[in-house]
Amino acid sequence: MSERRKPLISGNWKMNHNHFEAIQTVQKLSYQLTRDDYDAVDVSVHPPFTNLRSVQTVLEADDIPVALGAQHCHWEDKGAFTGEVSPPMLAKLNVRYVIAGHSERRDLFDETDEMVNRKVRAILAAGMTPIMCVGEHLEEREDGTAEQRVSSQVEAGLADVSPEQVAGMVIAYEPIWAIGTGRTATPEDAQAMSATIREVVRRSKGADSAGSVRIQYGGSVKPTNAGELMGQPDIDGALVGGASLDPDNFSRIVQFRHTT
Ligand code: PGA
Repeated sequence: MSERRKPLISGNWKMNHNHFEAIQTVQKLSYQLTRDDYDAVDVSVHPPFTNLRSVQTVLEADDIPVALGAQHCHWEDKGAFTGEVSPPMLAKLNVRYVIAGHSERRDLFDETDEMVNRKVRAILAAGMTPIMCVGEHLEEREDGTAEQRVSSQVEAGLADVSPEQVAGMVIAYEPIWAIGTGRTATPEDAQAMSATIREVVRRSKGADSAGSVRIQYGGSVKPTNAGELMGQPDIDGALVGGASLDPDNFSRIVQFRHTT
């Protein structure tokens, strides 16, 4: 195992906040976070596409060490793909992390494992870091096939990605039944699946990649449960939806180390 991986706490705003609200949110967030917080934790925010440029400008003008993230992209560099945005366009805005294969994209917009894999490779090729989401439906958890489902998503999503690239990546384990529902996986369940994901990475990409890849937990993360989740040995951060819209809540999640 490598030395302890630095946690990454990411705020996935989904389809919320216009660009004025986005600017206020990152400014308020920056008033709450300290140098010690940034030393302990990497932080990213993932606003909708229309806000990326505004948020980039605030982060850079005020020297705020929060990384800019996107929620989605296409895998082609350019072309006739009405409504889509390409990885090089995001990279040009200094986007650092791009979420790929969020369950809402998989379920509502029919994204397949193969599409997720193409995006992961395109994000890496543009010099950014994918946050690749995996997770099971409630039925799969109940019928005992959750591990199988998540393992196959990890394998398919990382196909043809080099061990060195995987080492720098982020995988977010988000049990679909816990997203936006107020139901959180128990720290033990979240840890068990994160260990499974790390083992799949070890088998397919080797021990160095498995030791370095960061695994986030996502699904109803709040200030009150963040510390316990993050205390698990294979959980290296959180992908936060609802609670990331409010800078007070999100900063308390980033400061989870004070609650453990
Ligand atoms: P939630 O969303 O925190 O609102 O459950 C998490 C996510 O979808 O990334």
